[in-house]
Amino acid sequence: MYPLRRNRRLRTNESIRSLVRETILSPNDFLVPLFVVDGKNIKEEISSMPNYFRFSLDLLEKEVKELWSLGLRSVLLFVKVADNLKDNAGTEALNAEGLMQRAVKTVKNAVPEMLVMTDIALDPYSSFGHDGVVANGKILNDDTSLILAEMSLSHAKAGADFVAPSDMMDGRIFEIRSLLEDEGFHDTGIMSYSAKYASALYGPFRDALDSAPGFGDKKTYQMDPANRDEAIKETFMDVEEGADIVMVKPGLCYLDIVRDIKNVVNVPVAVYQVSGEYAMIKAASEKGWLDHDAVMMEQLTAIKRAGANIIASYFAKDAVKFLNR
Ligand code: PBG
Repeated sequence: MYPLRRNRRLRTNESIRSLVRETILSPNDFLVPLFVVDGKNIKEEISSMPNYFRFSLDLLEKEVKELWSLGLRSVLLFVKVADNLKDNAGTEALNAEGLMQRAVKTVKNAVPEMLVMTDIALDPYSSFGHDGVVANGKILNDDTSLILAEMSLSHAKAGADFVAPSDMMDGRIFEIRSLLEDEGFHDTGIMSYSAKYASALYGPFRDALDSAPGFGDKKTYQMDPANRDEAIKETFMDVEEGADIVMVKPGLCYLDIVRDIKNVVNVPVAVYQVSGEYAMIKAASEKGWLDHDAVMMEQLTAIKRAGANIIASYFAKDAVKFLNR
């Protein structure tokens, strides 16, 4: 008696395995998050994100040229704002000469074809470290959405190709889309963080931008990690309101959500492999407990296999170098 089917035949050697491989990563899959800080000649490592840095604009220019030469074609910008520029309404976010606006111009000058996306949320600019305006300990939804729309317009004027609202206010995609249309920015896209969970995996990011909430948490706007149907509802709403790309965030723990959403929407789905996911792999591999490159590639492949069309990842550069070896 023999087994009826011998599945191992398709795994005999690397040539046959690569012939039948269902998911292939390429540089085109990646969106590179970049942290920007004011000043000159600054490239500072983020303590909880080994080998990841905050760049001043002069060194940001060098970095994006290097990314381009590696085959990476899109970046997602975040800024670290000085404490004295923070207030409750995130006023600095609308400054036409603010750090984000200058960063967009810097990238576009350095590499005109690089696709530039900007983070839209108040937390880096907020004296409370929240994604919206605070009143009586609450985060105001509609007031915040109006500011986010102005912020998006300001980024579009600076040259951003896409704005990426990461705040989870209700109705903000509609406000942003409407204002961009009214002002003639018909081609500026929106990548919505549509299913963004109130995750404990954002800690290192908040270190990077010094943006941790000063009181409470983000559970009144970000989603409960226990919920699945709600992610579909959130995503459909954002598509109806005008999102060109939707997103699930974080990555690895939420791949069921990624697949659910991929199955029902007809817009590209992005997945954000967040700072805590990066930190876990770095820490375990520094201790010699995990093989860094193998785990990195396995997790990125799993994210794509689950249905991601775009992967925002701090590993983008490492992964592309690995692929080019
Ligand atoms: C801010 C924002 C956060 C992240 C992206 N945009 C943090 C938060 O919501 O507190 C997290 C990204 C990461 O952890 O890598 N609106």
